[in-house]
Amino acid sequence: MPNYQVVNEVKANFDDVYQSPTPHAYFSTMNELEYAIGQEARPYFLSAVALMRRQLGHQIPVRMLDLGCSYGVGSALVKYGFSFSEIADFFARDPDSNSHQCIKDTREWLAENEPDNPISCIGADSSEEAIHFGTESGLLDEGMARDLESDPRLAPEECALIQKCNLLISTGAIGYVGERTLNPILQQLGKNRHRPHGPYIVVTILRMFSPELITKTFAAHGFKFLQVPEVHLRQRRFHNETEEEETIKAVQKRGLETDILEADGYHHADLFVGAPESDHPDLMQAMVETWKKLQQ
Ligand SMILES: C[S@@+](CC[C@H](N)C(=O)[O-])C[C@H]1O[C@@H](n2cnc3c(N)ncnc32)[C@H](O)[C@@H]1O
Repeated sequence: MPNYQVVNEVKANFDDVYQSPTPHAYFSTMNELEYAIGQEARPYFLSAVALMRRQLGHQIPVRMLDLGCSYGVGSALVKYGFSFSEIADFFARDPDSNSHQCIKDTREWLAENEPDNPISCIGADSSEEAIHFGTESGLLDEGMARDLESDPRLAPEECALIQKCNLLISTGAIGYVGERTLNPILQQLGKNRHRPHGPYIVVTILRMFSPELITKTFAAHGFKFLQVPEVHLRQRRFHNETEEEETIKAVQKRGLETDILEADGYHHADLFVGAPESDHPDLMQAMVETWKKLQQ
């Protein structure tokens, strides 16, 4: 089974837009490619938050860790309730503003918009620029700029940050990150105090990447981790023909058909949920019900 780094070579490289001091290039590039995965996954994240609220009550806060959060995308979608195109439109208003001005404008934008969901959002990403923007602008409550693939050792303050989180989400990041990143994170996730339910995990994985590589990492940390049946989410348009051909080959190499999904010219991802064994059925049921509602 090829590792994620090898398969990831197939995808176009966006390092420059991930590491810019402002989110302008990220959102304009992703918007051009009709990047949709965050928006597509949002109803499932909201459903997990709602389940946690029902189970934990309002005394225990939901603290969401967004792995590969970029400039705070998961928080903008889930906490603030913006759509991906609303976020892209906001950052397209003044595409030349410098970091200082863009942070100020974003703070004002957030101040005008009460969060839809009063949760805490903690972002983790290898891009120092993105985490700096996310925390300074207020999109993220707290952040951690680390590439755990290169060095998986966590500092004590990073452990404490992850320990406070009881929901792990991720879109568009598995593949860049795998077992080396998940191992230290799962070792700490939700460990600051015992809660009657969770922690929960809701992540999307492109169909070109084999989930088996990380399923065993989840199992090693006591999490049952399974694909949600029927759910296939559009990620983004292929960057060029080479990316399309190579992606289709990688998906077919996994034994999956590409005639319906990838043949439409887009990357597609599957949805996976993880939880302690006793909590997993409720989380899975919430996801299945969300999928059914979206079909109506
Ligand atoms: C396609 S973007 C996804 C961003 C966001 N989750 C979304 O869906 O809009 C991938 C993100 O993964 C981050 N990334 C790449 N390698 C990483 C690593 N080793 N550790 C953490 N984040 C990484 C990039 O900086 C980038 O922000």
